[in-house]
Amino acid sequence: MRKEDVVKGYLPATIVAGERGEAFAPSNIALCKYWGKRNRELNLPINASLSVSLAHLGSKTCITESPDGVDRVILNGEEQAGDSKFARKVVDFISLFRGDLKQAVQVETENNIPTAAGLASSASGFAALMLAVDHFYDLKLAPQHLSAFARMGSGSASRSIFNGFVEWQMGNREDGMDSFAVPLDRDWADLRIGLVKVATAEKKVDSRAGMQRTVESAHLYQSWPLQAAADLEKLHIAIEQQDFMLLGETAEQNALSMHATMIASWPPLLYWQPESVAAMHKIWDLRAQGLQVYFTMDAGPNLKLLFLEQDSADLISAFPELEIVTPFATT
Ligand code: PMV
Repeated sequence: MRKEDVVKGYLPATIVAGERGEAFAPSNIALCKYWGKRNRELNLPINASLSVSLAHLGSKTCITESPDGVDRVILNGEEQAGDSKFARKVVDFISLFRGDLKQAVQVETENNIPTAAGLASSASGFAALMLAVDHFYDLKLAPQHLSAFARMGSGSASRSIFNGFVEWQMGNREDGMDSFAVPLDRDWADLRIGLVKVATAEKKVDSRAGMQRTVESAHLYQSWPLQAAADLEKLHIAIEQQDFMLLGETAEQNALSMHATMIASWPPLLYWQPESVAAMHKIWDLRAQGLQVYFTMDAGPNLKLLFLEQDSADLISAFPELEIVTPFATT
């Protein structure tokens, strides 16, 4: 089933462009990771995942009519070549929604995620783009449909439609329309996320290729859906009971289990750099000394620390460059 065939059924009979469509979406960090697709065209996952959104850190996207009839994509103030991978992905995504409308668009995206933090921006990028498209063409899509369509741009973008703790349900329909994210009605005011930068260079193997390689070549991957399902349950309990140790232990073990499946792939896939391993040991040492700090990692060398507000000062002295995010900030 093709993306355009799925989307078509949810669009108004006639698409009319407005003057501008603008939206912001937060980045997110998964505590139970999405790793492996059961359908690569629609980005349907093999397992459900759970994340926390990064409040004000994310992407802002604005769509207007193109001044010269050519689709244009501007990222952080720089116009992207029309045949670049980035511009093509953005324009292809918009084309899913503009139907027969011939009007070309200008898309401007700004990421306020500190580039130094080495955080991926595809999740917030596609979520903000989906919301801006909805606004620009006045589609009035329901939140779960916004999430399901953002997922077609990048799986983790399904979760960036919402704030706070978010679960992406895997669903089982062939068209994927039951594979969308839902926000959990729970917050955690003193939860903190620390970004530890190891490297910011673009990775050689992106998450799409990495997942495919793992699913196809790692026998160890067979245990991943079981691990993810068990971790998801533990995370729900941890969030419900505000049990930070359970949250941290589960997130760290989940991330390391995902990386174990990558390492067991062929050719092997190891996103860690020596500095990543050094940071892991530092965290384990701090924990042995009684500090409640855990980490998680995505398809890259950088670490994301999980800790509570009361330990912020100790963590800043251990990691002076730490960028701290307050996911449940009230202002
Ligand atoms: O959304 P994608 O295709 O960039 O994949 C994200 C994969 C991980 O970041 C490793 C895990 C996750 O759930 O975010």
